[in-house]
Amino acid sequence: MTDTITLTRPDDWHLHLRDGAMLDAVTPDTAADFGRALIMPNLVPPVVTGADAAAYRDRIMAAIPAGADFTPMMTLYLTEGTDPDDLVAAAKSGLITAVKLYPAGATTNSASGVRDIDKVMPVLEAMAEADVPLCVHGEVTDPEIDIFDREAVFIDRVLDPLRTRLPQLRVVMEHVTTSDGVEYVKGGGDSIAATLTTHHLFINRNHILAGGIRPHYYCLPVAKRESHRRALLTAAMSGDASFFLGTDSAPHLDQAKLAPCGCAGIYTAPNTLACLAQIFEAEGALDRLNGFVAVHGAAFYGVPVNGGTVTLRRETDAQPVPEARATPEGALTVFDPMVPIHWTVVG
Ligand code: DOR
Ligand code: ZN
Repeated sequence: MTDTITLTRPDDWHLHLRDGAMLDAVTPDTAADFGRALIMPNLVPPVVTGADAAAYRDRIMAAIPAGADFTPMMTLYLTEGTDPDDLVAAAKSGLITAVKLYPAGATTNSASGVRDIDKVMPVLEAMAEADVPLCVHGEVTDPEIDIFDREAVFIDRVLDPLRTRLPQLRVVMEHVTTSDGVEYVKGGGDSIAATLTTHHLFINRNHILAGGIRPHYYCLPVAKRESHRRALLTAAMSGDASFFLGTDSAPHLDQAKLAPCGCAGIYTAPNTLACLAQIFEAEGALDRLNGFVAVHGAAFYGVPVNGGTVTLRRETDAQPVPEARATPEGALTVFDPMVPIHWTVVG
């Protein structure tokens, strides 16, 4: 049995680092294992302009431990007031890599998001023209639509019509959670790709709700039924370059998770690679892990793969879930995949 695996230093194409004390607490976990990450802009207030992105990038750089080989790739938060010239200039200068579309109200800190897609069409046209990828939180916010159906309905109501209007716009459907999303991306040609998170490869909705409610498994899009989880795993392990890792590692303090109205988000940065090695191995697909974590995303974003490597070793004993991170404001619980994890990053 293989007991070590060396991967090209991977990328996380969807990451929340936050700001302030939380930024300082979580950045070392990602910088330890990843060469680059696409940094989500949903701060309060959000990262809307090129100047905002430059300032946020500086704060992130200051939080990276000395000697770490890690580059943050910045995004802008699309609003109905976004200035297309500022956005295109930020992309052309290399400051930003992509732009994030949050439907207003869809998730954490999305109040400044898009209510009416027609209002952002001029910006999207400028992005298509300048080849700036659009990263999409693919859920409708219509209160009439059941939360478990919001991704599938988004494809029909928003995403497919948008791509018909602007076929040259390159789109990443972020954190896909359904077989509908997988099928849509598979049939969508080169202009669409999808990120898959670590946690959605492990948990289904029973893990959140059966036998007691588990706030640490609550995230958005919410995990779906088991058949959808299987579709995500199959996509991740298929070798199809349209699918790549975006952890959506989304830290919230325990007091914000374990509350009557708890926050959405799961902190997976510390153990993502170990969890992925475990599940790819269990499915007989360890040879596909490198493509998923280090190659497919770089190809979509048009950047070379990272130069370094990361090595994982399979230990005889199951490894404990990493300790909760202590931040000055409280504890931050790390994702528990609920299956024994034998892999550990060794260098
Ligand atoms: O679970 C989530 N947490 N989903 C998102 O879309 C946002 C994220 C966050 O920022 O906490
Ligand atoms: Zn996210």
